Amino acid sequence: MIIADILAEQGTQVAEEICRRGGAARFIHTDVSRHADIANLFENLRKTHGGPDILVNNAYWSARGSVETLSEEDWDRGMDTMVKSVFLMSKYAFPVMRNRGGGVIINVSSVHARVAWPEYAVYSAAKAAIESLTRQMAVDGGPIGIRVNCVAPGSIPITDQPPGQDWRVPMGRRGKPQEVAGVIRFLASDEAAYMTGQTLTIDGGMTATLAQPTAPHSQAGISSFSRRAVHSWIQSARRIFAPPRRSPAKSYDNQQGS
Ligand SMILES: NC(=O)c1ccc[n+]([C@@H]2O[C@H](COP(=O)([O-])OP(=O)(O)OC[C@H]3O[C@@H](n4cnc5c(N)ncnc54)[C@H](O)[C@@H]3O)[C@@H](O)[C@H]2O)c1
Repeated sequence: MIIADILAEQGTQVAEEICRRGGAARFIHTDVSRHADIANLFENLRKTHGGPDILVNNAYWSARGSVETLSEEDWDRGMDTMVKSVFLMSKYAFPVMRNRGGGVIINVSSVHARVAWPEYAVYSAAKAAIESLTRQMAVDGGPIGIRVNCVAPGSIPITDQPPGQDWRVPMGRRGKPQEVAGVIRFLASDEAAYMTGQTLTIDGGMTATLAQPTAPHSQAGISSFSRRAVHSWIQSARRIFAPPRRSPAKSYDNQQGS
């Protein structure tokens, strides 16, 4: 396994851990938003391993902001890291995989590709682009034996701690990194040999529902934001569904009299 990341220390540690557990891994410092780095990575792979059979496009960098507040610089960095990287990594992987008789590409999206959250402009746009590019690459890769799929995780804390409760999730809790890794492993395996162009959502049901603040598991965890939101929805509903007011009797009488 080759780990390509900008974080040299952490990347090297992960590679060492994989080797300690009996696997084979190597870290190669790569900024996936830079064409020159990706060209070097694939040249390195060509000389040493022949090329990738499986590519997971996972890199992420983002900044919070609406279209009004996000800077152009942050938009470009987000798009380069999350979208251009998928394009360039796959651009290099395609010919190598074709020559090796096929391969598998798995892109990492997010539930934010399909549902919005305040000030996630570049993240949502990038993840939606990744899902669309997945379908496009699957169509172009199908005839040459390259399968391309995508995973869209929900809320996954990246710590060793057990995932906490989350009232937005029908399963009542956040996810574990292993629960995402398991689906990626499935998509990379022959178990998924007839799957391509798909996005699998791994979110405990978060995007399957309009979260119900009255659900039993949500009572304790409901945030003050959602209490305010629920109160405001009720007020709006009262205004919308209130019976129409009759015109004041006096003016009615006046009209009658005119
Ligand atoms: N954790 C979640 O709740 C969650 C939810 C939905 C989707 N995701 C997606 O899962 C993927 C992994 O995220 P994570 O939560 O493990 O976060 P993370 O920050 O641990 O992983 C992102 C990795 O990308 C690397 N990276 C950033 N810029 C890079 C660049 N220019 N070149 C090379 N590497 C670069 C970072 O160094 C880091 O190792 C991301 O695509 C993210 O959008 C995560």
